[in-house]
Amino acid sequence: MKARLQAAGVSIVAALLLFVAEGCSHLPGKPGFRPETLRPDQTVGFAILYKNNCSACHGDRGLNGPALPLNNPVYLAWAGHDHMVPIVASGVSLQSMHSFAQSSGGMLTDQQVEIIVNGMIAHWGKAGILNGTNPPGYTATTAPDVADGNTAFETHCARCHGADGTGAAAAGAVAKSGVVGSIVDPTYLSLIGNQALRDIVVAGLPGEGMPDWRGDASGKPMTDKQVTDVVAWLGSHRVQFPGQPFPDSAPAGQHPAKGN
Ligand code: HEC
Ligand code: HEC
Repeated sequence: MKARLQAAGVSIVAALLLFVAEGCSHLPGKPGFRPETLRPDQTVGFAILYKNNCSACHGDRGLNGPALPLNNPVYLAWAGHDHMVPIVASGVSLQSMHSFAQSSGGMLTDQQVEIIVNGMIAHWGKAGILNGTNPPGYTATTAPDVADGNTAFETHCARCHGADGTGAAAAGAVAKSGVVGSIVDPTYLSLIGNQALRDIVVAGLPGEGMPDWRGDASGKPMTDKQVTDVVAWLGSHRVQFPGQPFPDSAPAGQHPAKGN
């Protein structure tokens, strides 16, 4: 009994000492050193910068968000640091992606933009993944041809997306979701730009069962021209007023509704 009381006494003293020690570090007016007291432009960790600025649209860890999955080694190697930095910094021709860099009126410093882009490449990329391959260009190098795009669609896409692009029940088996939806729906197309379509055709959607430009038709990687043409063919399904009160009239390569 006595021993227990003594032990309790020791704990009380220890607790009091702790309390006093704690109290001292919280004197009124004394600045704290907690992480949350960092100003937003002082945050330098990739994970937190990505989470706070990108994950709402591009998904937790770059997957399963409403916008393009960025956790795709083929995409990261293909677009690369130099294409991604200006996109992230200034939101070039992207509809719903804001400008993030302070130099374009956003919240991120140029250093933070670098940290995010380099972080995505370091965490989700795979060095050398495109070695020995000859991927289509990041942007179109030939004039788009819709009729040739239709042919390219039949060769490379129809087996999964259906003869007219509205989806194919049989292809559901390849999709993680079990469903392959329409890719010619005007509302879908009004929400995605040609560059993002090109990104998907070239880099695939590995998380969802869509192959990259090499795997669409076995043994026949898509050529640069075929990619350009199939994107033009998809784009030809856009309508002027896709159920929204604003016109859809962006030139090729730009988001159709950069409405800001
Ligand atoms: C409000 C939603 C939103 C947020 C937040 C957002 N993005 Fe995007 N992002 C998009 C959309 C939508 C696209 C595709 C645009 C299109 O359809 O053309 C895109 C495209 C991209 C692309 C691909 C560009 C290309 O065509 O190759 C990159 C890279 C990218 N975003 C990086 C980021 C990073 C990094 C962040 C965080 C700093 C971020 N995004 C935050 C919506 C967003
Ligand atoms: C092996 C099957 C397969 C082939 C071949 C294929 N895709 Fe896909 N594709 C998929 C799956 C699975 C998805 C994800 C499910 C979905 O979004 O409906 C997808 C998604 C897409 C999306 C995004 C749709 C969305 O809702 O975000 C586009 C765009 C697309 N494919 C275009 C193409 C084009 C163009 C081709 C030919 C160059 C092609 N695909 C070839 C299986 C395929």
